[in-house]
Amino acid sequence: MTALAPNATIGIVGGGQLGRMSALAAARLGYRCHILTDEPDSPAAQVAAGATIGSYDDAEVLRAFAARVDVVTFEFENVSAVGLDLLASLRPVRPAPAVLRLSQDRAAEKTFVNAAGIATAPWRLVETLDDLREAAAALGLPAILKTTRLGYDGKGQLRLDPGCDLPAAFAELAPKPLILEGFVDFAREVSVVVARGLDGTSAAFDVAENRHRHHILDLTLAPARIPAETAAQARKIAETIAQAIDFVGLLAVEMFIGARGDVLVNEIAPRPHNSGHWTIDACPASQFELHIRAVAGLPLPPATRHSDAVMKNLVGPAETALWPAILATPGLIPHLYGKAEARPGRKMGHVTRLFPRGSLPGDFAIRDALGPLGSAA
Ligand SMILES: Nc1ncnc2c1ncn2[C@@H]1O[C@H](COP(=O)(O)OP(=O)(O)O)[C@@H](O)[C@H]1O
Ligand SMILES: [Mg+2]
Repeated sequence: MTALAPNATIGIVGGGQLGRMSALAAARLGYRCHILTDEPDSPAAQVAAGATIGSYDDAEVLRAFAARVDVVTFEFENVSAVGLDLLASLRPVRPAPAVLRLSQDRAAEKTFVNAAGIATAPWRLVETLDDLREAAAALGLPAILKTTRLGYDGKGQLRLDPGCDLPAAFAELAPKPLILEGFVDFAREVSVVVARGLDGTSAAFDVAENRHRHHILDLTLAPARIPAETAAQARKIAETIAQAIDFVGLLAVEMFIGARGDVLVNEIAPRPHNSGHWTIDACPASQFELHIRAVAGLPLPPATRHSDAVMKNLVGPAETALWPAILATPGLIPHLYGKAEARPGRKMGHVTRLFPRGSLPGDFAIRDALGPLGSAA
């Protein structure tokens, strides 16, 4: 295994907060980062050694980016497959383009996960309105209709309830094809972030519990309040998926926990994940450090946690306006991403609150512990 030498340059495709926090972790390990982004003033480029600004699909831009870096990784999944292949012909790309292709397509992803012997919600591919009618009859309603590509933060999906207008729902979502997923009446929504190195060793963080508001992650609690056997099963699933795709880098696996403790995989993301931000403050080595270590071919430390944690996202103008109050509240660990404009629904930063291991409080006390953000939580 050849490790990237100190002072080498890691190329990060995408200029958002995941790239920013990866670049900060890389700097601590003695690496430079060079960002590829189409934004002139991106969160990642603000903290990186350099940036190439241009279209992700422009071959000249991709070549110029590759020429400046020693290895390439991603914080952003919606790069064209052709662009990825071009980068991979010039530099090592970790994780590999094949993995990105899989995560870009919900149908391919679920097919892969099911083939690895891991359960998901029941689902059907929907290419035509007739497919949708058959899928709705087979799976029953309610169900969730999703685009296979380009969805995030609940965009590109619709809940279909009994008696709904199927042709209208089919017409509304684009691009096609779609999938219909059986509705999961989950007890908890959780995620596992796992790193896997060039040598095939892996390290999985503890299971985190996620709460969404308006389809956007709002709160993450670590560890998830689930039985130890369920947590062990969830981590095992994440490690099994990472191994099955011969993954190198950082992989997040979103899961549903049913009322009886059954674990269903929802989706995978081959990059640092919002539900892993708590690891910056609650772990000796964060998800971003493990990401950079895996990409650089360094040994992986264990993904241990020294504290329990609650992470609250700062979304849109209302929560961002609380920034001065957050700074004035002892115990809140603030993170801001350097975005100029706080548009509704936009993730502007996050706040972490730590608790001694084993003392994560109940919902009520969590609200209290978040101070000015408590009423928003
Ligand atoms: N089959 C399902 N049953 C119940 N809830 C679902 C289902 N699929 C998605 N959801 C809810 O919608 C959220 C967003 O869906 P997801 O597939 O993760 O898309 P994305 O995160 O790409 O927007 C999930 O975190 C979950 O809360
Ligand atoms: Mg999701």
